[in-house]
Amino acid sequence: LKEKDLLLIILLTIIFHYLRAVNCISVTNERYRLNYHIMAPAGWINDPNGFSYYHGEYHLFYQHNPDNATPGNIHWGHVKSEDLVHWKHLPIALSPDKLYDNGGVFSGSGIVFKNSLVLMYTGNANQSNGTYFSSQSQELAFSSDGERFIKYTNNPVIAFPPIDGGNAFRDPSIWQYKDMWYVILGNQNNLTQQGRALIYSSYNLHTWNYVGVLAESTGNFGYMWECPDFFELKGRYILLMSPQGIKANGDDYKNLYQTGYFVGSYNYQTNNFSHNNVFIEMDHGHDFYAAQTMEAPDGRRIMIAWMDMWESAYLEQEDGWVGALTIPRALTLSPSGKILQKPVDELRSLRTSTLLRSTINVKGVSKLLDARSAEILIKATFKSTVARVGIQIDIGNCSKVLAYLDKSNNKFVLDRGDNDPRKTLIDVVNRDNFETLKIRIFLDKSSIEIFLNDGGTTFTSRIYPSSTPAVYALSEGAVTRMKVVAYELKN
Ligand code: FRU
Repeated sequence: LKEKDLLLIILLTIIFHYLRAVNCISVTNERYRLNYHIMAPAGWINDPNGFSYYHGEYHLFYQHNPDNATPGNIHWGHVKSEDLVHWKHLPIALSPDKLYDNGGVFSGSGIVFKNSLVLMYTGNANQSNGTYFSSQSQELAFSSDGERFIKYTNNPVIAFPPIDGGNAFRDPSIWQYKDMWYVILGNQNNLTQQGRALIYSSYNLHTWNYVGVLAESTGNFGYMWECPDFFELKGRYILLMSPQGIKANGDDYKNLYQTGYFVGSYNYQTNNFSHNNVFIEMDHGHDFYAAQTMEAPDGRRIMIAWMDMWESAYLEQEDGWVGALTIPRALTLSPSGKILQKPVDELRSLRTSTLLRSTINVKGVSKLLDARSAEILIKATFKSTVARVGIQIDIGNCSKVLAYLDKSNNKFVLDRGDNDPRKTLIDVVNRDNFETLKIRIFLDKSSIEIFLNDGGTTFTSRIYPSSTPAVYALSEGAVTRMKVVAYELKN
């Protein structure tokens, strides 16, 4: 190269980076920025991806548009942590720069293989290339330092859906069993237009064989199953997924799309997943989708989800960002086959000062505290003559968030005051004519996560306070004795 050409190249590179930087979106208002949840530095987030553990650290990626607070131009953002609590932002891991993924580096998972962190994701192509790949195909990327990822030269590794499969063919979740790799993918059956999950297997990650359909909607479970995840809890197998197209039914399935699971048994030889067709919603709030799990080094099954929902109002959008991920939750299976969610114990390290520790008798409302980000633990004891037991949060501008047990029907209700309450039946513990209810709340600047009793029922929703929330204990119709402990949580 001549000196003149070199100078020109340097100049063009500088201009390119400058244009990229001025185009870059930034956060213009911090009012709803969360204190202890994972968010992108700015721009858009949806699904968690590639949740894995590599060289002593948890790695988590997320669907991310770095240029705008809108979906589109999807990359993989990247954070890592030693303790699931303190996360560090890393450079963007994957960008949509190949013919097979130029319409977005869609969701996928991560595993460790031969000392590399390996990501498997869906390449969403702007144009399908009939000969080499369909509009959604599955790709690999490798990293030896957990930071820079190189896409596999022979991508796609699964180029086409099976013959009876529709073009919606995405969100690989990969795991190892004995000496084989398995991947589960979401798809639509072309003939029935029903959602389903497919299994592939591989000896070496590069060559994949189609094993077959793991499970399929028989008419009631939607037209497409997004983000399937398949794992074992206490010898049972869980198919966790996010179906699109389930219609609301009474108090159930009230969000645009759902996230839930089937529990069953699985036979690797026959690929037979036998379950009783009961789809249990994982969370009952407004904003919980595309959950993903990983197995921690100590054997815990840990889940994180997108703490939003497609097509919501996203009040933070005008501030240059949208979306966040839930706190990590450890999953166990109850004897009755229900998944219990417990915020991981590491989250205790977020507690700073104790805001409150007392036992009170509540009738009507009783002020507990003011806080923007707090963990509140309540053990309520009451007689069944009570009408409502729970909390009320004043979030400014005369708006209230109510979270309470409605004793007339034993349903727990989360009401953000927007005429769109969520409710579900909960198990009530009754001993010697007294009932008890444990409520554990993680409040952040624009979110609330509620865990009831042993974690068998949770509610996750975005809320948008216009001033510091004031939290009240609530007991209507009779007196409730409440043991309350509350901690301020650090940023
Ligand atoms: C789920 C989802 C996935 C897809 C990704 C695209 O929210 O639609 O199916 O891979 O988001 O961002």
